[in-house]
Amino acid sequence: MHQSYNYDVIIIGSGAAGLTMALHLDPNLRVAILSKGNLSAGSSSGAQGGVAAVLNPSEDSLEQHTHDTQVAGAGLCRRDAVEHIVKNGRDSIQWLIDIGVPFTEDKKQNHAFGFHLTREGGHSARRIIHAADATGQAISDTLINRVRRQANIDIYEHHLAIDLITNQKLGSRQQKGLGAYVLDLKSDQVYLFKAKVQVLASGGASKAYLFSSNSDGASGDGIAMAWRAGCRIGNMEFNQFHPTCLYHPNAKSFLISEAVRGEGGQLLRPDGTRFMPDYDSRAELAPRDIVARAIDHEMKRLGADCLFLDISHKPAEFVRSHFPTIYERCLEYGIDITRQPIPIVPASHYTCGGVLVNHQGQTDVPGVYAIGECAFTGLHGANRLASNSLLECFVTGRSCAQAINQSIHAINNNEALPDWDDSLVTDSDEGVVISHNWEELRRFMWDYVGIVRTTKRLLRARNRVKLLQSEIHDFYSHFKISNDLIELRNLALVSELIIDSALSRKESRGLHYTLDYPAMAETVEDTILTPENFSPENAIE
Ligand code: FAD
Ligand code: SIN
Repeated sequence: MHQSYNYDVIIIGSGAAGLTMALHLDPNLRVAILSKGNLSAGSSSGAQGGVAAVLNPSEDSLEQHTHDTQVAGAGLCRRDAVEHIVKNGRDSIQWLIDIGVPFTEDKKQNHAFGFHLTREGGHSARRIIHAADATGQAISDTLINRVRRQANIDIYEHHLAIDLITNQKLGSRQQKGLGAYVLDLKSDQVYLFKAKVQVLASGGASKAYLFSSNSDGASGDGIAMAWRAGCRIGNMEFNQFHPTCLYHPNAKSFLISEAVRGEGGQLLRPDGTRFMPDYDSRAELAPRDIVARAIDHEMKRLGADCLFLDISHKPAEFVRSHFPTIYERCLEYGIDITRQPIPIVPASHYTCGGVLVNHQGQTDVPGVYAIGECAFTGLHGANRLASNSLLECFVTGRSCAQAINQSIHAINNNEALPDWDDSLVTDSDEGVVISHNWEELRRFMWDYVGIVRTTKRLLRARNRVKLLQSEIHDFYSHFKISNDLIELRNLALVSELIIDSALSRKESRGLHYTLDYPAMAETVEDTILTPENFSPENAIE
């Protein structure tokens, strides 16, 4: 008999989305927050640039922010989602200020309640509120501090959700989420978490690629769990590559914020010449897909290992005070950014697609919600506008909590759920298979499903991923599970969804660029993939 728990709500993920949602739930509900790392694991705490919102109405407007989002999204954003999120931006920022997030102040300019606003690519106004260049850390620390004080919230760090439990998996025709199986990474025991409502807030899948700005846990677990539970998944071909990650053998995943370009940083070839004006009239501040593609093109053309980002023409004190984290980190690698250009390469950064949801975060399976980077709301279209992601986490985290507060009392969860059955599996002595497959997957995703694609490369990747999946399935059926095996299983599934989505898009749009269909099609359509066990009667609008 394994240990089991019973909650009103379980939230899988403790990033900006999960914690915001937890803090907006009715305090009479019993809530569990699960994180496979510690509470600050995930992308949120590493966010640098800031949060986009219309905070200075004398120089900005909701229409402008909506327009910029749609332009970056290359015509594929869902207008209702954009309006919902943009309109609620200011309230979300006010809430963060009220709970104590120490955003950088700027009394002189007397805008945005006295806070400094920076600029990033694709934004037509200064609208990014930030805490120097460590915005995510400041926000995470504040949210974590708050949830730790809530008596109705239990926190389970180092607990990895393996799969959702649904009625359908138990043989019922009526589809409903009932809970999740969770691996305690400290004790290696699998526990049953029963809940009226399950919320996926588990972040993106950027670790499907060899080079990524994300931490190791970005393995698309929530997207994979939702797919296996019967949820539709949208627009997975739109994987965003951030143009500027530090290029240094020891600097794994360190981002150089777009705000560096927002404050005047210029992209240079190895010979010191600027190239972005040749590609786009917005130069370094063009949307990310354009900048990343230009860098990729220049690197391939010149056979260069990296290009450079230079902010050294700005006064040293300005650079140090705006970008203290980046300054310090680069200095550790012997690069003084006040005097030298920074070596950079693009890296996989953000999953624009995800689990199909409505404005309240509801998925196709009743009782299962998805918020944050794992969800597909329609905000980002074919390319996310910088700093719109955290905004989406705050706005949808709150909308989702409000919907649950209103509906949860009508849900009962009296079903008896089976324990996790590991009676037929043994310990593995073949750990090397997992590390080899992990490496192989991420390398062919980078080489064949990266910034520039072709149908031939995608088909090649598809064959490889199918083969890997059968090996992983075999491993999963015979051996005890581990963190690495679960993540690999999820990454392989999510990679397949990315490849299938990319193959089905017969055009180039936003982040999906293929040499076989270089033009943008006239018709604008999302790529929606439907799992075999999808129940159309529960489909969200
Ligand atoms: P995350 O913050 O990634 O959190 C995911 C959580 O899920 C973690 O707690 C993790 O432990 C947990 N988890 C995952 N799988 C499981 C599982 N199976 N079981 C249990 N727990 C699980 N966006 C902006 O808007 N502005 C920025 O300035 C910005 N800067 C960025 C800088 C970097 C370096 C990176 C990587 C991203 C940046 N982004 C930025 C993007 C943004 O940070 C993310 O999209 C956003 O933080 C995602 O939040 P989230 O809550 O959805 O997920
Ligand atoms: C950055 O600071 O460049 C990241 C911003 C983002 O990903 O939105």
